[in-house]
Formats: sequence, C-alpha cells, structure tokens
Amino acid sequence: MRDDLEIVVAADEEWGIGLNGTQTLVIPEDRKHFREVTGRGTVIVGRKTLSDFPGGRPLKNRRNIVLTRDRSFDVEGVETAHSVEEALEKCGNDEKVYVIGGESVYRALLPWCKKAHVTRIFAKADNDAFFPNLDRLPGWRLTDGGEERESNGLRYAFQTWERCDG
Ligand SMILES: NC(=O)c1ccc[n+]([C@@H]2O[C@H](COP(=O)([O-])OP(=O)(O)OC[C@H]3O[C@@H](n4cnc5c(N)ncnc54)[C@H](OP(=O)(O)O)[C@@H]3O)[C@@H](O)[C@H]2O)c1
Repeated sequence: MRDDLEIVVAADEEWGIGLNGTQTLVIPEDRKHFREVTGRGTVIVGRKTLSDFPGGRPLKNRRNIVLTRDRSFDVEGVETAHSVEEALEKCGNDEKVYVIGGESVYRALLPWCKKAHVTRIFAKADNDAFFPNLDRLPGWRLTDGGEERESNGLRYAFQTWERCDG
C-alpha cells in the first residue's frame, strides 16, 4: 500500500460506474469536486477512459500517466506505463497520485491505495462497468459519509473510504 495513492470515483448504489465506455450518471457538481480533489496532482488512468475524455486529450494541469499494453500508444501530453509496476515507479516521487479509472485500473490499483474519494450516487443506473463493492470488501471502511446533496433530482454524497488493515 502507498500513503500517497488515492482513488477518485463516482459510483451508484450498486457500485456501477459506466456503460458502453462512458459514465452514465453525470453530476456537474461532481466534475467540480473531481477537479478540486485531483488539483495539480498526478493521475493514473486507463487507455479506454482516456479515450472518453473530450478529444481523447489528457486532463489539464495534471501529470497524466496512462496505462496501456500497446507499446506504440502515443498521445501528446501523456506519459505511458505498460504495467501497474511501471505506473507506480513513474510516480514514485510525486506528492499525490490519483487513480481515476476505469474499472480495470481501479481493480488493479485498489490494493495499493490508502483512500478512496467516492461520489456515491443514490440511484441505480444501467451499467456494465463496476467498482469493487467497498461495502463488502474486507479492509475498507467508510470514514466520512458526507452530507447528502441533490443535483437535478439525483441524491449523492461525497464519501471518504479508507483502508483499515494497515
Ligand atoms: N464513474 C467513474 O468515476 C468512472 C471513472 C473512470 C471510468 N469510468 C468508466 O469505466 C469504464 C471503463 O473501464 P474499463 O475497465 O473498460 O477501461 P479502462 O480501465 O479505462 O482502460 C482499460 C485499458 O487500460 C489498459 N490497462 C488496464 N490495466 C492494465 C495493466 N495492468 N497494464 C497495462 N495496461 C492496462 C489496457 O489498455 P490497452 O487496451 O491499450 O492495452 C486496457 O484495455 C467506462 O464505462 C468509464 O465510463 C467511470
């Protein structure tokens, strides 16, 4: 586990995070929250999620490390890593590193993460991508349930989950 490594995710009641390569439930306030949390830090992102960003371009003002097995992958403003180990090595000296999805990248890096910023949306969407169910995953606990908010009829909360197994 690394103390500087944190997850940022928006998940519905069933821990659903996306359908057909894109996020299903989008809350404008969550986009702002995402920018505030990730700040000027480093993000680790999967190649498929990067392709869903506007223009397939990296996030501004942040160091973008993209996981791909494709050795010819080359996008301006992006650094590539071909394995979890390589991604972790590349961001070794960075102060804060955020794992921002998608499903396969969350699953691969969750064991390394200390904290998860979860925008929990109290609704059920149609999803084919899921985040691991932290309600049932040993070693994780909800340390801040956040206040319940509402946006366009969707109820949500900015939750913090932390590792409790050292
Ligand atoms: N709700 C949210 O907060 C949130 C956030 C982000 C994404 N999402 C959703 O998540 C879904 C996408 O998830 P996904 O799992 O299909 O795609 P993904 O994790 O974004 O990207 C998968 C790709 O990443 C690369 N990769 C993954 N693990 C790797 C490893 N260990 N080593 C090297 N490369 C690796 C591979 O790229 P190559 O194929 O190039 O080798 C793989 O095909 C979408 O629905 C998206 O909307 C939701």
